[in-house]
This record gives sequence, C-alpha cells and structure tokens, in this order.
Amino acid sequence: MKCYAINKPTDFMHRGDLLDWLRTTDPERLAELWRLADQTRRRTVGDQVHLRGLIEVSNYCRRQCGYCGLRADHRSLARYRMSDDEVMGCVRQAVEFGYGTVVLQSGEDLGLSAEWVAGLVRRIKAETPLAVTLSLGEREPDELALWRDAGADRYLLRFETSNRALYERIHPSRPGQQFDRFELLGRLLQLGYEVGSGVMIGIPGQTYDDLADDLEWFARLKLDMIGVGPYLRHPETPLAAWPEASVDEQAPATERMTYKVVALARLMCPWANIPATTALATLNIHEGRELGLLRGANVVMPNLTPTEYRTLYEIYPGKACMAESGRTCHRCLAQRIAAIGRTPGQGRGDAVRGEVFEGQSNIF
Ligand code: 5AD
Ligand code: SF4
Ligand code: FES
Repeated sequence: MKCYAINKPTDFMHRGDLLDWLRTTDPERLAELWRLADQTRRRTVGDQVHLRGLIEVSNYCRRQCGYCGLRADHRSLARYRMSDDEVMGCVRQAVEFGYGTVVLQSGEDLGLSAEWVAGLVRRIKAETPLAVTLSLGEREPDELALWRDAGADRYLLRFETSNRALYERIHPSRPGQQFDRFELLGRLLQLGYEVGSGVMIGIPGQTYDDLADDLEWFARLKLDMIGVGPYLRHPETPLAAWPEASVDEQAPATERMTYKVVALARLMCPWANIPATTALATLNIHEGRELGLLRGANVVMPNLTPTEYRTLYEIYPGKACMAESGRTCHRCLAQRIAAIGRTPGQGRGDAVRGEVFEGQSNIF
C-alpha cells in the first residue's frame, strides 16, 4: 500500500499503524491523532468550512438495504417526491444563504426520470452559480452521462463497506444485477464527475481490519469527497435484529470510532473534502459536528429540505435537525463554525486535484 500522507511518507500510515490507531483507547495517542489530522486539514484545505445545501428530493427507494429506513419494504413510511418548483425554492435559499453547492439526494427512485433530473440540473446551472452534486443511487450509465452533460459537477455514492461478503449481506442486489460499486465509482470518474464515497462505521459484522481496508480504498480511489458516519440502528429494518457483535474485533458504532476514521481519512487523503456528517451530529447533537471539524473534516451539509418532507427522510431514527427549517439550520451552523474559529467557505469549494496526485495514476 502506497503512503499518501502529506509532505513525506510517514510511518504511521502503514497498515499496522493504521490498525493501531483504529484500536487505541489511549487518550494521549488519540489527542495526537486529532492534532495530526487538524494540522493536515489546515495545511491542505485550510480554515474554510464549505457549506453544501442538502435537498432530500424524494424518499422513494426501490432497494432493500438491510440497514436503511427508506428501503422499499418499509411500507408504513409515507413517501414523497418534491416538484421542480419546490426544489428550486430550496435552491434559491442556498443562494440566499451564500452556499456554493446544492446536493440533490434521494432514495433510488426511478420516479425521478433521467430527463426530469437533467432538466432540473440545467435550470439550476442556468439560474444560479451553484455547483450541483447528485446523490441518487445506482443509476444507468447513460443517465449518469446525461446528467453530467446537463452540468452536474459531482456524484456521491458510498460503498458502505469494502468487505464484500458483509456488503452482500446488508445490501441485496437487484434480481439479475451484480452491481459493483467500485466499478460504478470508476465510471463516474471517467465521466468527469468529482466523486465522493464513504462507509458506515460499526455495521454488525464489521471489524477493525475492514475499516483499515476501507481507508486504504479511499486513498486508492483518490476520492474527492469522503463521507463517513456511525451505523445507527433503525428498529424497522432487518439489521436491527442482528447481534451487535457477531465477530471478534467488531468495530464499535461509536462517536470516537467515527472521529478516528475521519481523522485517518484526512491523513490518507489530505486534500479530500470531508464532511462532519449528520449521523455524527445525531450521536452528539451538542458538539458532534464541531468535533468532526476539529479532527479532520472541512465540510458541513446544512439541510434545506422543507420541514414537512425532512421528517419523512428517515434513514435512521432521531436524525439531527428533523424538525428544523432550512433557515434555522443555516443560522445554527454559521454560529457553530464561528465558535470554533473557522470561516464559512467562499465559492464552490471544488476538489483540489493535480498537484498532490502527480505521478500517481488513478487505478481506473
Ligand atoms: N445508519 C447510518 N447511516 C445510514 N445510511 C443509511 N442507513 C443508515 C443507518 N441506519 C447511510 C448510508 C447511505 C446514506 C444515504 O445513508 O451510508 O449511503
Ligand atoms: Fe435506498 Fe439508499 Fe436507503 Fe439503500 S441506503 S434503501 S439505496 S435510500
Ligand atoms: Fe440544524 Fe443546528 S444544524 S438546527
């Protein structure tokens, strides 16, 4: 495994050391990890915290992910799909609040036709200076190409875990379809998207070794964006019935474990855009996001979804900001960013590529 750490190859990024960091409970070593990640973040992506306005466009989903509240079999969940005018209302708020990006996110919803999405992307690009990120699940190659042509800048698709057997257990494939997320991520890169991915932390059956693999995959894929969050139990999903730890060396779904992966992702991929995620804020509403930002993260994703819809975008229960408005989240985050001495990002907050990756060809 190549070492991608900033400035010079450093010993701590080798496999054994990665595992040591993941396993340690020693407060002094952890303080050292937080310090290294924060220092690297400052040197590479700086003090700006980029704001990506999240619009949860539809909660329909055709998939059956064993962990997620939006899975098709969760029949008691009321479903919604926003109209283009509703989405544009949120987009205008993003402009008003000074954000550089909107993220259009949904379940894997074929009711969002490729043409509809393309039209919406064109409209956003024509009417605003915003970067557009799509996070609409596994869609067909020609659809991904169409959206890119329409002006979409970035695509988010987590690979959830690089442990294939575990992935297949928690994420049933569609009949007749053996979908490889790594292959799809490669395709997105080829289409010229900035590509984001990530994993959940503490999935039942996930080990420290698996997390070390995940981190190595982040570097190998040269991701522009890395989003990680703790696995949170949703009682109405199959995974809720699984024993929390069925393997030796089960990685815990804790706040501390999440900070470790955020910090190590920063050291492995110094130039990546890394959000302090909503799942982290859900575990610690008081300071989860702040601690993420102080331990390697440089992005937050304020939720712009209208309140009547956001309560229905229940991937897991107790999601942070469920009852708030876009304006409340905006004010709240602006204040939190200022309180830790950072500044809101100016401009789109595009990925910084090139200089760091010189001489390292992408694996695809
Ligand atoms: N806990 C934590 N994260 C979850 N996601 C889905 N369900 C859960 C859960 N129960 C995350 C997945 C997915 C993203 C949309 O939300 O990583 O990619
Ligand atoms: Fe659908 Fe995504 Fe949830 Fe899977 S994780 S059920 S694809 S919304
Ligand atoms: Fe939503 Fe604080 S970020 S209320």
